[in-house]
Amino acid sequence: MGPAHLLAALSYATDLDYEKCHCNSWRMALVAQRLALMVAPEIRQDVFYGALMQHIGSVGTSDHIIYVNKDHRRADDSNGLDHCSKSSIILRWLPGMQSIAQYVSEHHRWYRGLRREDRATGGEIQLGSQILGLVDIASQTDCFRSPITLSTGLHAIAGLTGRAWRRELWIALVESTKDSKFYLRMMNTAALPSMILEAIEEIGVPPALDTDTGVERVLHLFSVLVDLKDRSTAGHSLRTASYAKSLATYMGLSHEDTHQAYRAGLVHDCGRFGIPTDLLSKPGRLSSREMEIVRLHAGMTIKALTCLPMTTDICELANIAGHDHERFDGQGYPDKLQGNDIPLISRILGVADAFDAMVSSTGYRLLTPRGAAVRLVQNAGSQFDPQVVDAMLTMVRESGLLNERQIRAA
Ligand SMILES: [Fe+2]
Ligand SMILES: [Fe+2]
Ligand SMILES: [Fe+2]
Repeated sequence: MGPAHLLAALSYATDLDYEKCHCNSWRMALVAQRLALMVAPEIRQDVFYGALMQHIGSVGTSDHIIYVNKDHRRADDSNGLDHCSKSSIILRWLPGMQSIAQYVSEHHRWYRGLRREDRATGGEIQLGSQILGLVDIASQTDCFRSPITLSTGLHAIAGLTGRAWRRELWIALVESTKDSKFYLRMMNTAALPSMILEAIEEIGVPPALDTDTGVERVLHLFSVLVDLKDRSTAGHSLRTASYAKSLATYMGLSHEDTHQAYRAGLVHDCGRFGIPTDLLSKPGRLSSREMEIVRLHAGMTIKALTCLPMTTDICELANIAGHDHERFDGQGYPDKLQGNDIPLISRILGVADAFDAMVSSTGYRLLTPRGAAVRLVQNAGSQFDPQVVDAMLTMVRESGLLNERQIRAA
């Protein structure tokens, strides 16, 4: 499982809403690496990954995709610029991403120091940051949507040249648009997955990230961003991953499968990025339409993790992670799979997910471990695989959360 493919999937997930993927970050990354190739090939790799990840810190702000699109019109809004430092802090946690994080932290500094309080100017602002800033503003003015919006968008932002970015960069951007084959392909959403895959193959991965530790960190990044999206369920992905791994071990699954259960727990709710934040944290019961929208997150987890072609191991992870809301009786979602047609690790994940949601949710749904055990038993055979429920009860009892009498009562 390649860290670059996972980062591309994460980037895609953060541009999802429940109707479509906007692919803003993918387009920015493709144009940014092309600009870097023209003006500073040695920073091409850093610029590519920086552009892919530069807006992850805005996940969790209300309707963050729309927010990002309007960002350039909020020059005086200090909250609006928080995403630079937030994205940068998160990226520093990944091995091999230090210089990339630095570029991201400064991507809204203006060349003539008009935008930020520290008044950094000219050469004090790294070229990589200026490239990210330029493609960001070009993306927000819809330059990467169609030939017509490219022309109107460039016209709209041309006046920022010399103030927001150095003149050579602007000349390079305008020069790059002469490659109409590249631009037309990049504007075609259906062609984007292949273009991203080709870029990853050509550009490579920061060596420090291309390790088992790097992959694990990227997988944990999914859970960190899910927490950022909805703070009322903070820690849910990590706890679900731990429960699922323990359950899989307890049930005698192989080392690889237990590891897969853990990984699936970390990523299983990434489709929630595309659900409006106020809906996820809405107190009380949801209307049937609202519930329908929230349920879309499972299919969107699959969509995000399968966004690139030919990444078989991530597709396997997607198949497990996206089916944790299937029910044993076939009445779940997103695909109404039934019984053993639901992958075993998904059935394990479903029990782990429900248990954590019951014992750690905020508000009226909070249950004690005993109450949660009762609920699992009541729904064994309908919602949950009875074998997995049995294993969960025994495991929870052995962990000391429930005693023998409470289990019998359950
Ligand atoms: Fe930005
Ligand atoms: Fe979920
Ligand atoms: Fe979940």
